[in-house]
Amino acid sequence: MKKDWKLQGWLIPGLVGMLFVAIITVALAVAPALPEYMKTATYITSAKCKMCHKATFTNWSTTQHAKNADTCPWEADKAKPGTPTPEMAARYTTGYDPVAKTWAEKGTACEACHGPGSEHMKASKDERKAKIRVATQLETPAAQASVCGQCHGQFSIGDKRFAAGYKPGMDLLAMDGFKLDDVKPGTKLEQLNELVTSEHWKQGVVCTSCHLAHPDKANEHLLKAPVVELCTGCHKDKTMAAHAPTAKDGDTCATCHMPDGMHTFTEPK
Ligand code: HEC
Ligand code: HEC
Ligand code: HEC
Ligand code: HEC
Ligand code: HEC
Ligand code: HEC
Repeated sequence: MKKDWKLQGWLIPGLVGMLFVAIITVALAVAPALPEYMKTATYITSAKCKMCHKATFTNWSTTQHAKNADTCPWEADKAKPGTPTPEMAARYTTGYDPVAKTWAEKGTACEACHGPGSEHMKASKDERKAKIRVATQLETPAAQASVCGQCHGQFSIGDKRFAAGYKPGMDLLAMDGFKLDDVKPGTKLEQLNELVTSEHWKQGVVCTSCHLAHPDKANEHLLKAPVVELCTGCHKDKTMAAHAPTAKDGDTCATCHMPDGMHTFTEPK
């Protein structure tokens, strides 16, 4: 009996301790936390952002993201019941609500990346910056990549096949039940799956290290600079002439390191 008492004496603080650790672990898993304003902020659409951000709006208008409003793949299937699927709607609209099956705006608009903007629009001058999210200013590389990865990734979160409950600022990969699919080369909207396997990911090189969201000069893949210039900006010793003397005219770093547009950035075999 005495033994049991001793065991209990240890067991209860032990269990309390374990519970405490569990709570801390859960708290860390959902970090970085969303700011308070996000709980009440609603979607106001790009037409409102345009009133104060005219130049950015014009730049964004030239991108595939803006054009996604016209090329939503379910448009042709409008008559078919059950379309769009939630996984399509979440990737081709902004502010998708999976319960009501509605969205704020078609296409990949401002608030898909910056979060809902009502509080930002209403805010005083001093508070404005604190009431909008900018991917490049988020706490961790994973949170930064999540802004793009919410659509440019193939994954499940529990039984959902889209980023249900995600808002810019969160770490998608740390969400409860998050699991990346195994993707084959040629899969669409899969860049996150490939990037997380790379040396780049380990070193904190994320989407916005290489891509711009609304460049002032339109370019095919929204790159910060033409491919060779972009890569050699970090890999200074890897000039085409020194490192790839056998390359053909028109080849770039991507020809060998990104076959099929793959974002694994491996050394070619
Ligand atoms: C009523 C005018 C107004 C509207 C509407 C507005 N903004 Fe702004 N926004 C501003 C001003 C002014 C700033 C600059 C704040 C500063 O520099 O302190 C700003 C700054 C920003 C920034 C930069 C924040 C930073 O940290 O540098 C982003 C991103 C942004 N707005 C996005 C949006 C989006 C997205 C919308 C639509 C959902 C929107 N804005 C609607 C006035 C507006
Ligand atoms: C695909 C994601 C995405 C979309 C869509 C998007 N932005 Fe941005 N925005 C970013 C990122 C990332 C940055 C940080 C710097 C950069 O890449 O230009 C940024 C920066 C900004 C800034 C800060 C100043 C600057 O230009 O660097 C403003 C203001 C802004 N965005 C407004 C808007 C507005 C208004 C829209 C819609 C018309 C919009 N953004 C659409 C991702 C996006
Ligand atoms: C709300 C969903 C969504 C978000 C958020 C999003 N994208 Fe996209 N993006 C798309 C879709 C959908 C396409 C078009 C894919 C297709 O149908 O080919 C696309 C296309 C692109 C393209 C191809 C454009 C071209 O001309 O080759 C690039 C590059 C891109 N996105 C980069 C980004 C980056 C970087 C971010 C984060 C800053 C981001 N996206 C955030 C949905 C999104
Ligand atoms: C190290 C730089 C780098 C990083 C990091 C990066 N990309 Fe790219 N991305 C590129 C380059 C370069 C291309 C153009 C490849 C080519 O020319 O074939 C590209 C192309 C793309 C395309 C067009 C693909 C196609 O097949 O048409 C999309 C979409 C895209 N990137 C999205 C993303 C997203 C989302 C992330 C983050 C999860 C990301 N990229 C991270 C450099 C990068
Ligand atoms: C923002 C800086 C940055 C940019 C831009 C960048 N890289 Fe990297 N890259 C790194 C870092 C950091 C590493 C890891 C350490 C190292 O090998 O230098 C790395 C590693 C690599 C590796 C080695 C991978 C391995 O498995 O060992 C390859 C290949 C590579 N990068 C190719 C590219 C290509 C191609 C581009 C352009 C599309 C590019 N990088 C753009 C920073 C960058
Ligand atoms: C013709 C194909 C080819 C092209 C084009 C090419 N590479 Fe490579 N790269 C390779 C091969 C093969 C390796 C592995 C053997 C080696 O290290 O040389 C490699 C390795 C690398 C590595 C990792 C090895 C290290 O020393 O860290 C980096 C980083 C890299 N390349 C960057 C680049 C950049 C940047 C460009 C564009 C300026 C580029 N590569 C263009 C074939 C190519």
